[in-house]
Amino acid sequence: MTVNQKNILSVRDMEREEIDRLLSAAAEFDRGNGTGHELDGKILAVLFFEPSTRTRMSFSSAMMRLGGKILNLGSVEATSIAKGETLSDTIRVVSGYADAIVLRHPKEGAARLASEVATVPVINGGDGAGQHPSQTLLDLYTIRESMPLSNIDIGLQGDLRYGRTVHSLAFALSKYNNVRIHTIAPEGLDFPASLKADLSELGVELICHDAVEECLPELDVLYVTRLQRERFPDPVAFDSYASTYRITPELLEIAKPNMIVLHPLPRVDEIDPRVDSLPCAKYFEQAHNGVPVRMAMLNEVMKS
Ligand code: CP
Repeated sequence: MTVNQKNILSVRDMEREEIDRLLSAAAEFDRGNGTGHELDGKILAVLFFEPSTRTRMSFSSAMMRLGGKILNLGSVEATSIAKGETLSDTIRVVSGYADAIVLRHPKEGAARLASEVATVPVINGGDGAGQHPSQTLLDLYTIRESMPLSNIDIGLQGDLRYGRTVHSLAFALSKYNNVRIHTIAPEGLDFPASLKADLSELGVELICHDAVEECLPELDVLYVTRLQRERFPDPVAFDSYASTYRITPELLEIAKPNMIVLHPLPRVDEIDPRVDSLPCAKYFEQAHNGVPVRMAMLNEVMKS
């Protein structure tokens, strides 16, 4: 954890022990072992400069389940940011109104910048194509419900260039033993070269595939992502990639019986809705796991 002042900015900075401790704390909340008063009297400021359903709502739900309250920035157009106020000034001001800030922003590095001027803990709720640590923790939590986090083969499919969830997850998996990462991405949407180099330096075994069929029979986890339309510089380029991959029940017939399918959601058309009723489909459970995992994170950064 970037736990200088208890910020949570990137899984890259987190020790495996910190991750495991948060996952264990999340499991306790999931079992109903909290008091519901852990954060009585505390306020979480929710500043989202990009659309969100899961992250915004599950952080809010988590805060309320811990006895705390929410202060929502609301629509950016209705704030003084629309008059030209900077992110830094906004964060400085909001630091005086709340006990912690969760920030989503389209610019990579925005959460780190915010943490440098904030006087309360900052949690990164997703920064551009950078990191999404709370998503990663709930992804790990969901995998851990089905299998150990070591000695597994995980396929990452879709937009690996712009998708921050897969960037975060790959770094988190580098902390566990004997995890092989299979990337399945259209040409031009694979992991950025710098990220591949960083992962390779960390000893991650990366195996690249053109088609999911090449690795599906080996996988324990298939993690599917949507194309990040909002990050494509050119709409024409986006159209050329649209509908490149689609997971169907027929395709999954060659998968291991216990393989699980994850997706950070929202999905567009990467997963056929007929997959939803199969036992391997864990993506809605994954979204629900956001509440206990974010309870653990909020409690960690705000507990007295
Ligand atoms: N997975 C995720 O971050 O979803 P939202 O964009 O809806 O928060």
